[in-house]
Amino acid sequence: MKTKILPASELKVAAKILQAGGTVVFPTETVYGLGANALDAEAVKKIFLAKGRPADNPLIAHIADKKMLPQLVQKIPASAKKLIKKFWPGPLTIILNKKKIVPDIVTAGGKTLAVRMPAHPLAHKLIKLAGVPVAAPSANLSGKPSPTTAKDVIQDMKGRVDIIIDGGSCQVGLESTVIDLTSKVPTLLRPGAITLEQLRKVLGKVNLANPHAKKPKSPGMKYRHYSPNTPLILVTKNFEDNIKRLIDERKKMALIASEEVGKKFLDKKIEVILYADLPTLAQRIFHILRELDGQHFDYVIIHAVPEAGIGRAIMNRLRKAAHKTI
Ligand code: TXA
Ligand code: MG
Repeated sequence: MKTKILPASELKVAAKILQAGGTVVFPTETVYGLGANALDAEAVKKIFLAKGRPADNPLIAHIADKKMLPQLVQKIPASAKKLIKKFWPGPLTIILNKKKIVPDIVTAGGKTLAVRMPAHPLAHKLIKLAGVPVAAPSANLSGKPSPTTAKDVIQDMKGRVDIIIDGGSCQVGLESTVIDLTSKVPTLLRPGAITLEQLRKVLGKVNLANPHAKKPKSPGMKYRHYSPNTPLILVTKNFEDNIKRLIDERKKMALIASEEVGKKFLDKKIEVILYADLPTLAQRIFHILRELDGQHFDYVIIHAVPEAGIGRAIMNRLRKAAHKTI
């Protein structure tokens, strides 16, 4: 299949393709999404094919207007209203009970639907022009890190989708926060840039999903994700000793570290990638992992970050990507 790579100025062409049942990769503020008309089962099927995504993993419906929500879901509870008011448009996905109009393939046969209203102006315009809700998972091949630059998207999706819109780098860099509002107490299924602390401030009690549950609430949680080819080692303790030991083993290594920690290793014979703060790490981590993957390191090493605020989302992704945690 021939993939057209379009600049942001050609959104109209992309919107027409969506209306005609085609696939369009578009930027959002979190990561790039691989979109198709959410109300067209045949179109949505193409998303699963392009990604190699298991059919039991449901998709997020993206909307451009709060008015689109009641068309897709049943009763909108007070919790949803509060979150929408505070965080939409933005990197927050809410799960509610779906209406019949949404084809089963979108929700993997389930009764609930994930919905998000992205803040990225290109995503917003595209959905508005198409005039339909857009089902879109992250635009990576299943099992690869989510793409956060057009280059990453092209690497995975050229030849597999109708259109890729080049919208530069994504600002947040990690996928949206996902919260299930169908349970009595809301449950955080995936941490993201809208933090647990922020959600609790608005909702009061919010439960954390148990990632080890036999039947995970979010099907995506059971798959090994964001998995680079080069082994990623997540160091949670004795960081400096552990790094020194690995250097002594004369391994070809890359180290991703805060400026404070990383500067101590600048004179060693390893590649050091420094980040200034956690939002910057979040924004760049998937791209860094992809770039390092092509460079034949024996290991990529990264140290743990505090599990609060955006740090919770970063650690969630690092744990899933890591081959080993020491
Ligand atoms: O930031 C994002 O959310 C990006 C951009 C493109 O919007 N999208 C994204 O989609 O990350 P995806 O499909 O890669 O991740 C969606 C996650 C999956 O883990 C999926 O299992 C879960 O949300 N999910 C979707 N619908 C669900 C539902 N009805 N119930 C529980 N989990 C659901
Ligand atoms: Mg994904």
